[in-house]
Amino acid sequence: MNLPNLNEARRRSNKSVNRIDYKLNNLYKQIGLNKTYYVKTYGCQMNEHDSEFIEGLLESIGFTKNNEMEKADLVILNTCSIRENAHNKAFGMLGRLKHLKEEKPNLIIGVCGCMAQEEVVVNEILSKYRHVNFVFGTHNLFDLPKLIYDNMDNSKLKIDVLSVEGDVVEGLPVKRVNSFKAYVNIIYGCDKFCTYCIVPYTRGKQRSRKIEDILKEVNELKDNGCSEVTLLGQNVNAYGKDLGLGYDLADLLEKVAETNIPRVRFITSHPWDFTDRMIEVISKYPNIMKYVHLPIQSGSNRILKLMGRRYTKEDYKTLFDKLKKIPGISITTDIIVGFPGETEEDFLDTLEMVNYCQYDGAFTFIYSPRVGTPAAKLYESDQTSLEEKEQRLYRLNELINNYSLESNKRMLNNTYPVLVEGLSNKENMLFGYTETNKLVNFAGKSDLIGKIVKVKIQEAKSFSLDGELVE
Ligand code: 5AD
Ligand code: SF4
Repeated sequence: MNLPNLNEARRRSNKSVNRIDYKLNNLYKQIGLNKTYYVKTYGCQMNEHDSEFIEGLLESIGFTKNNEMEKADLVILNTCSIRENAHNKAFGMLGRLKHLKEEKPNLIIGVCGCMAQEEVVVNEILSKYRHVNFVFGTHNLFDLPKLIYDNMDNSKLKIDVLSVEGDVVEGLPVKRVNSFKAYVNIIYGCDKFCTYCIVPYTRGKQRSRKIEDILKEVNELKDNGCSEVTLLGQNVNAYGKDLGLGYDLADLLEKVAETNIPRVRFITSHPWDFTDRMIEVISKYPNIMKYVHLPIQSGSNRILKLMGRRYTKEDYKTLFDKLKKIPGISITTDIIVGFPGETEEDFLDTLEMVNYCQYDGAFTFIYSPRVGTPAAKLYESDQTSLEEKEQRLYRLNELINNYSLESNKRMLNNTYPVLVEGLSNKENMLFGYTETNKLVNFAGKSDLIGKIVKVKIQEAKSFSLDGELVE
């Protein structure tokens, strides 16, 4: 048993990062033969991409995918810790799986992802969810074949979670959801320790992949016909800082753009690490998408300080103005309302910043206390009621949605390239994304999936656009 430990997860040392080349042990190669798996994923793009590795690992040991959870021999829940509702969903699913396992005693259940890295969660699994077979964390995902091998006898709950700063593992097998668009990790973990956030504890220290490994992956994707890569990290703008090799996100973006892959995206940006050179590079290359997700979190300097965000609203405005000079750029954000101690006045500062930035879109959240983070202590003496916070969220969303609609309306009657992603719910309708990451629905045949087509925008809504195929 390796149990997660918050105090160890908090630690950051100067120790250099282990770089591991993954190799499958022959012992495990056949263990999944004639068995099927089902992976349920919660949370962010990082988790979605981790699930692509999980599926790749499972298929490398003989498992095949089952689209029905009830029929699978192995079920893995890849969980998220960011807010309490993510916890609740995963625990709800564990409840459902308990019944399933009563009907199918041979079912193997694994839990991984960010929740697995939390002490409180693992203790709850140990006391209430003993039907789980094994728990593994974000740091030892590549040990999955061994974990399954060790648990095939379905005997008792095994916890194998490491609270370490983390390694960088190259060469994992991957089963991508799409062939035409792909996630590419560039930096793992986070060292920002914003006071509300659990990520630095669940994902470990900030550690970049080497530029040559990233470029190799992008080139392979491109050679296989992939049209879009999204460079992934909790804070992509910190890319390279930990390597000390003299390159940063600007250099990486430039090199990735020069592969000539049609579309390059990057998420998520932290305002603190955004340099002028990065902005220049984004402007310079047509295949770097003019879309930046730039979380502000709050518009109140007092709250930003309590959040440990390291910028003021004035700093944010300066950066925002520079980015807005890039023609056609779309900027979205994340905002938390009801951070402990947030007053009506602080909240009005947030609305003011939204009025200033007129975002293309935003993800908005009510603050959710995360055990072990500094803000959770402030929350104990928080005076603001949940009703008040819900009201603030409602008011914020009204404003945000107005601006999203406005920005979408500005696209009316213009034609944009859209990467077609799939069939939408309605018959004969496709959906895809513009360069600025706007969702567009339009009529067309499924053979267009994976292609970049021109679409003329005919109707604008708050969260999507309707259009007509031009070519
Ligand atoms: N409560 C509410 N929202 C949070 N986020 C991160 N931690 C919390 C929390 N404890 C939000 C931030 C972040 C996004 C991914 O989730 O806005 O940018
Ligand atoms: Fe969390 Fe802040 Fe790191 Fe983003 S930058 S993952 S909000 S600690």
